[in-house]
Amino acid sequence: MIIKKKTIWQKLPKPFFALAPMEAVTDTVFRRVVIKAGRPDLFFTEFTNAEGWNSKEGNHAVGRRLKFRPEEKPLIAQIWSSSPENVAEMSIDLKKMGFDGIDLNMGCPVKTATKHASGSALIRDPELAGRMIQAAKAGGLPVSVKTRLGYSKLEEWPEWLGFLLKQDIVALTIHARTKKEMSKVPAHHELFSNIVRLRDKLAPKTLIIGNGDILTRQQGQDLIDEHSLDGVMIGRGIFQNIFCFQDLPKQGTKEELIEMLKYHLDLFEEELKDHPEKKYDPLKRFFKIYIRDFDGASDLRVKLMECKSLEEVRAFLS
Ligand SMILES: Cc1cc2nc3c(=O)[nH]c(=O)nc-3n(C[C@H](O)[C@H](O)[C@H](O)COP(=O)(O)O)c2cc1C
Repeated sequence: MIIKKKTIWQKLPKPFFALAPMEAVTDTVFRRVVIKAGRPDLFFTEFTNAEGWNSKEGNHAVGRRLKFRPEEKPLIAQIWSSSPENVAEMSIDLKKMGFDGIDLNMGCPVKTATKHASGSALIRDPELAGRMIQAAKAGGLPVSVKTRLGYSKLEEWPEWLGFLLKQDIVALTIHARTKKEMSKVPAHHELFSNIVRLRDKLAPKTLIIGNGDILTRQQGQDLIDEHSLDGVMIGRGIFQNIFCFQDLPKQGTKEELIEMLKYHLDLFEEELKDHPEKKYDPLKRFFKIYIRDFDGASDLRVKLMECKSLEEVRAFLS
């Protein structure tokens, strides 16, 4: 008798809360800040391109996106691609690197992805999407998919999600909008119950994760209760409250928030030792996550934004 080892997905709490993959945000530094603020049950890397990874200079060019520390596990590597061959090759590396799973991005609406028949363009090419999923299994990691309800029309969801559910995937995250809707309309949470019913019929073991406009753990719990979701994924909610994964989320005092920023700066500086090419400017985008919701926050933020280096920020804060 073959006994299949439990994957991380089966070991997650029920229900579970995940931090969304967000490019240029959810790297190893930010994930560790989030652990300190209030840990989700599951992390994803920002998406990484399989073509880039497999190219000669790949590991150097995109490798930083896949860096992690053991404390960030369970951690799923999210990748995007239009080539099953590249996905298969990369999935073997990801297994060796110690990731807990591989997630295929089939929802990204930006042109860089869609013009290469990847991201949300795969919604229009289920045949290729299916081959990508099977290819991702080459490394032996559990395969999940993150997608949207459809490409241009809401009514596409039963066919598209039904197709994905038949591909033997461990989990399916649904950002409850179409590609065409981008983020311009409220997420269609009302469809979650019907999606869960479709899952029950087609693939009872596949976990369904709701995503889109979920700002707090409590809001996520309410959606889980209402629609019987297995888990929820929070993205931009973390920008509004770094403590949003706590059981009873707090807003954070000025001192606590500044402490979090200082911790972020420490981890960023540590990363510079391995990656001296890392630029200072993108770091500024994080200031508004910490310097908010207290008296004088906006003045302080303006002053921090004027700082030209990490040292200047540190000097100013102290
Ligand atoms: C800055 C930013 C970067 C993102 N990068 C990714 C990504 O790399 N992979 C992905 O699947 N989705 C990405 N997304 C989409 C989010 O994962 C999520 O699906 C979307 O923001 C909706 O959830 P939310 O309303 O909780 O933010 C990104 C979103 C933002 C705002």
